[in-house]
Amino acid sequence: MKIYEVKTYDEMSRKAANIIAAQMVLKPNSVLGLATGSTPVGTYQNLIEANKKGDIDFSEITTINLDEYQGLDGDHDQSYRYFMNDNLFNHVNIRKECTYVPDGTIGDADEACKAHEEIIRTSGGIDLQLLGIGGNGHIAFNEPCDHFPAKTHVVTLTEETREANSRFFASIDDVPTHAYTMGIGSIMSAKKILLLANGAAKAQALYDTVYGPITPQVPASVLQLHPDVTIIADEAAMALIRKNR
Ligand code: GLP
Repeated sequence: MKIYEVKTYDEMSRKAANIIAAQMVLKPNSVLGLATGSTPVGTYQNLIEANKKGDIDFSEITTINLDEYQGLDGDHDQSYRYFMNDNLFNHVNIRKECTYVPDGTIGDADEACKAHEEIIRTSGGIDLQLLGIGGNGHIAFNEPCDHFPAKTHVVTLTEETREANSRFFASIDDVPTHAYTMGIGSIMSAKKILLLANGAAKAQALYDTVYGPITPQVPASVLQLHPDVTIIADEAAMALIRKNR
């Protein structure tokens, strides 16, 4: 694992965007695995600026997102499809038909998850997977549990995650109880992984990810087994790692 400590969220976002931009320049038809949440928003803003300046081109890029709430359609302003359109896709020269987010409107979980896995497979695999991390160490919506789920599957969201994500909804009752998410195996099959973490609320999860035992109780700890992981974290998220080094 390569770990870069930066001072601020802005610095984290610039560095992350530069890494993604480099990937796009080196391979213009890259398959990018993308994430939602507040963590990557600044990264997407930097990518939008780079695209506007003509430094990066999305015309041959394919994107595949990690997860989606079950039951929300793309027009719902808290769906991850809406988030991606709003924070990135609507502002760059990407072909929308080459952007894939699990389809939350497919009620049959098996069908929705198989369809997403098939997209990953037929795309030729993810070149660079961007990840945030939950305060409990979850990645995508792979919550702490007793095993590492291999493929895209339906999950019951923990109260902790629903609570954390309720800030975007009118009330916690509006937060869906289930989601479709890429599995740990789907994430681990990406050629490169870029994990971002900012803020003190991520310090314990980040420490456990890097130095803790590899356990499905901290889903991100599995990244210790991946050959090409880059972590960019701000000072607050790095606090425990720095203290224990
Ligand atoms: C959600 C998403 C994750 C994200 C996490 C952290 O649960 N499914 O992909 O990493 O939240 O979100 P944030 O970046 O807002 O802290």
